[in-house]
Amino acid sequence: MKLTYGPHTPYEAFEDYLKTYQIELWAPEKIAAFQKDLLHWYHQNKRDLPWRQTSNPYAIWVSEIMLQQTQVATVIPYYQRFLAKFPTIADLAEANEDELHKIWEGLGYYSRVRNMQAAAQTMVEQYNGTFPTTYEEVISLKGIGPYTAGAIVSIAYNQPYPALDGNAMRVLARLFEIDLDIGLAKNRKVFERLHQALISYEEPGNFNQALMDLGSDIESYRGYRVEESPVKAYSAAYLNGTQAIYPIKEGKTKVQEKAYRALIIEDNEGNYLFLKRPKDGLLSNFWMVPLIEQEEDITPFLDSLGLAHYIVANDALGSVRHIFSHRHWTVDVWYVRVLDEAPINVTFETELMWLHPNEFSTWGFPKIQHKIWEQYQQPITD
Ligand code: ADE
Repeated sequence: MKLTYGPHTPYEAFEDYLKTYQIELWAPEKIAAFQKDLLHWYHQNKRDLPWRQTSNPYAIWVSEIMLQQTQVATVIPYYQRFLAKFPTIADLAEANEDELHKIWEGLGYYSRVRNMQAAAQTMVEQYNGTFPTTYEEVISLKGIGPYTAGAIVSIAYNQPYPALDGNAMRVLARLFEIDLDIGLAKNRKVFERLHQALISYEEPGNFNQALMDLGSDIESYRGYRVEESPVKAYSAAYLNGTQAIYPIKEGKTKVQEKAYRALIIEDNEGNYLFLKRPKDGLLSNFWMVPLIEQEEDITPFLDSLGLAHYIVANDALGSVRHIFSHRHWTVDVWYVRVLDEAPINVTFETELMWLHPNEFSTWGFPKIQHKIWEQYQQPITD
């Protein structure tokens, strides 16, 4: 596959292309700041791996092929043995099959090493036993696809090509709240072009490896440690509390309709009650007015909060809709007036606070909270 968008594609072309997928590319200054923060983190935290001590494209190629289906810790000794046994491309090209099987034993997916030998033979025949230097030449070698070609030319030659693996895709999906299924091959080019639009031209290899490291550890699929991400300030999913739904993965794309009631609870002093959302799931750790399921009765819930005297309006003030990728919410907005002192010590399982609207600006609320509040202030609909 040839990349139609290359290192000389202007910013505006990426911007227009990505817009057609509802992805808003950052301004150039923000991209530069992002690169700086990501690379700074990488230089402080990168794993010390043997293939990071070299810029020999042959060695980097060996590492990338081994790492395709195998964990880093397993790969290290194989990588060292392989290069000791076949120090040059010509050595690999001339190896006999038994030697290849022996050196690869335990790694599995033997077609990887057979393809490598075929590619090494091509290099001997066409490139005088040296590793080719352009992306197009590299990707045309046997067993090398867009990911591996991008990894090799960026790491070995500092060429600004993306090396987009599943880890990098996951990070990008969160940064931009990308509503495309990362499991579908046809969506890959969108991520790839976004990656190209973001990549550092000074340190493309480090940029690529930083995304890999981030995606395989702090931003891993199962153990996402949101607060530790060095790029959380850039992450739309983090800022909007949607990190539980990105990336979108195949099989999880069925639209889920949910109906809630939002309770606008006001006390005598004009303060409003806010609850902190649970630390897992959608909108985690955000402060919001209480949300209950549509079918849940309001009064038992208010009692559970420790409230005693209140008036619940007869009807909802109105309704708002919000779409989180494949989760569609309808939220009816209800008003509740508390008549006595707001309780200070309540035995409720989540954190809560009373806030005056004057204080709202110091809190970062999610968009759905803003919509609920607007509905409360302008209840006249239809
Ligand atoms: N996985 C694949 N390529 C890698 C690299 N260069 N560094 C770390 N992990 C990787």
